[in-house]
Amino acid sequence: MSYIIETKNIIKDFDEFRAVNSINLKVPRNTIYGILGPNGAGKSTLISMLCTILTPTSGTAVVNGYDVVKEANNVRQSIGIVFQTRALDDILTGREHLEMHAALYGVPGDVREERIEEVLDLIALGKKAEEETKNYSGGMKRRLEIGRGLIHHPKLLFLDEPTLGLDIQTRESIWSYIEELKNNIDITILLTTHYLEEADSLCDEVAIINQGEIIKSDSPKNLKEELKSDTLTLTSPNVEKLCHLMENQSFVNDIAKDGEDVKIFVAKGGNLIPKVVNLANSNDIEIKSIELSHPSLEEVFVKYTGRKISDTTRK
Ligand SMILES: Nc1ncnc2c1ncn2[C@@H]1O[C@H](COP(=O)(O)OP(=O)(O)O)[C@@H](O)[C@H]1O
Ligand SMILES: [Mg+2]
Repeated sequence: MSYIIETKNIIKDFDEFRAVNSINLKVPRNTIYGILGPNGAGKSTLISMLCTILTPTSGTAVVNGYDVVKEANNVRQSIGIVFQTRALDDILTGREHLEMHAALYGVPGDVREERIEEVLDLIALGKKAEEETKNYSGGMKRRLEIGRGLIHHPKLLFLDEPTLGLDIQTRESIWSYIEELKNNIDITILLTTHYLEEADSLCDEVAIINQGEIIKSDSPKNLKEELKSDTLTLTSPNVEKLCHLMENQSFVNDIAKDGEDVKIFVAKGGNLIPKVVNLANSNDIEIKSIELSHPSLEEVFVKYTGRKISDTTRK
C-alpha cells in the first residue's frame, strides 16, 4: 500500500524539551486519519513538521511523495492547512478570503473564478459569502477556513483541532461536512483532536499520542474490540438469584449490581445474549430487559496511557 504520509523516527526538540519523540506514522490515502491526544501531547508540533512550518530535529517525513525538508515547496503545493487558532481577517468577506488564497497559491487566473464558486458551493455560506467575516458564527468561520484550504485542490488537508471551542451542534455539522468532503473529492484528511467522540465518529484510523509518542494506532472499532470488555446490563426482579447464577459462569469476568440492574462484564457480548436469556429462563429468573454496550475510546485511551484524556487536558 502506498501511504500519503510516512514518517521515520521523526523528532522535534525545543531546547532540552522533546515535544515529538521518534514518531513513525503511516497514513493511508483517501482516509480520515486522526491524531488523538491531550493538550501538550505534541499534535500541533507534529503537524507543523508535516506542513513544513517547523524543521524536524531528526528523522524524516515524506508527504505526497515529497521530503518535507528537501522538497518543502512541493509539499506546500500539495497540501491545505487549517490551523488550530483562527486565521481570518474580520474586514474581508468570505469570497475575498477565497480570492486572496487562490492568488497566494497561484491558482491560474482563468480557473480562479470557477474554483471560488466551487468552494463557495461546498461550504454553503449562501449570501453570507458577500459579508465581512466578523458577522459569521463559529461554524461558518470554520467552514470558510476549511474551504480556503481546498481552493488549490490539495491531495491532503491538515485540520488542527477542527472543532476546538465549538458547541456540540456545530461540531456535529462540521463532522458531517468533513465526511462529505472525503466522500466527494479525492482527498486525505489528517486531523488532530482531543475530543474522543470526534476521533470515534469521524476517523477511519486513529493514532493515540501522549507525551510526544504514538502509543497505538488502528481503526476505532478495532481499538475498542481489542479491549475485550463489553458490558451486558440485565434488568430483573430477581437480582440476587441472577447475580448468583452469573457468578458461576466462566464467560463472566466481573459483576456489578445496581438496583434492579445487574451488569456483567464479558469479552464479547454480542453472541452471549441468547445464552444469558436461556440460562435465566431455565433457572426461573425473569429478565425484563437486556442491553449490550461496547467500551468507548475513553477506555482505550485509559488502557494505553493509564489516564483519562479529560484529566490530562488543561482547560
Ligand atoms: N515553540 C515552542 N517552544 C517551546 N516549547 C514548545 C513550542 N511549541 C510547543 N512547545 C511545547 O511542546 C509540547 C507540545 O505542544 P503542541 O505540539 O502544541 O501540543 P498539542 O498540539 O498536542 O496540544 C508542549 O509541552 C508545548 O508547551
Ligand atoms: Mg495543538
